[in-house]
Amino acid sequence: MPRPPHFLMCPPDHYGIEYEINPWMSTQRQVDHAKAVDQWQRLRQLLVDTGATISEVSPVAGLPDLVFTANAAIIYRQQAILAHFKHEQRQGEEPRFRDALENLGFAVTDPPDDFAFEGAGDALFCGETLFAGYRMRSDAGGHQQIGEQLGVRVLPLELLDPYYYHLDTCFCPLAPDAAIYFPGAFDDYGRRVLAENVKSLIPVEASEARSFACNAVVVGRTVVTNTGCPQLHKQLRQTGYTPQETPLGEFVKAGGSAKCLTLRLDGEDAAGWQAAIENVIN
Ligand code: ARG
Repeated sequence: MPRPPHFLMCPPDHYGIEYEINPWMSTQRQVDHAKAVDQWQRLRQLLVDTGATISEVSPVAGLPDLVFTANAAIIYRQQAILAHFKHEQRQGEEPRFRDALENLGFAVTDPPDDFAFEGAGDALFCGETLFAGYRMRSDAGGHQQIGEQLGVRVLPLELLDPYYYHLDTCFCPLAPDAAIYFPGAFDDYGRRVLAENVKSLIPVEASEARSFACNAVVVGRTVVTNTGCPQLHKQLRQTGYTPQETPLGEFVKAGGSAKCLTLRLDGEDAAGWQAAIENVIN
């Protein structure tokens, strides 16, 4: 029996737009709290329906973005390298994520000195390689050191568009050799790096990228996204995936969607090291 997928989430009790640190956020455009709670619960239920276990970090007043647990850390086997947020508005989340991950049994370490690093928001395994977004939120030098620490190859990808400020807003590994991406978020060099290193790339069009099509949660062949991504869903169905949509508009107001609201604790399906563990266990 394969292990059930395991996610970290944070209930949106204290979620809201209290500051502006990306172009999606405007304190003039507030969250409908009841709607946000409903959307979060639906996402949680969809993941439970795929067989996943959910662990939670307790919400904290004054830390509205704690809901975006993807940014907590990067997970590699039993190690968690904690985030160090670029913006001080989010730095108060670091000790909360540290406690939550330690309580779950992870060996938690800090990212390399003085580097900004925003966890799985900017560092995603596809096969054996760690694809790492830099410039907007995480520093390239930190990614390289994290790669050395974990003994994995890092391919840095420069993020150019402030709307696609985290790698997980424009790139989503589906399997060790397949990913979704929004070409417009990268320069020619970045697009070439992706084309040369990921065998099957599914491009997303601009209008669907704006609906956070790339910010998907992948569980086996199931791919969960926000609503408003019909072209991507069609392409996924044609390639043997089962796309599912769920409304997440209240979280788009903060610049996040399905993937941002989750941190996979047992390794993404696309991570080569996770597949290797599964083979040993099965
Ligand atoms: N408001 C949050 C920020 O700007 C959103 C984080 C979204 N998380 C993600 N993994 N893309 O930091």
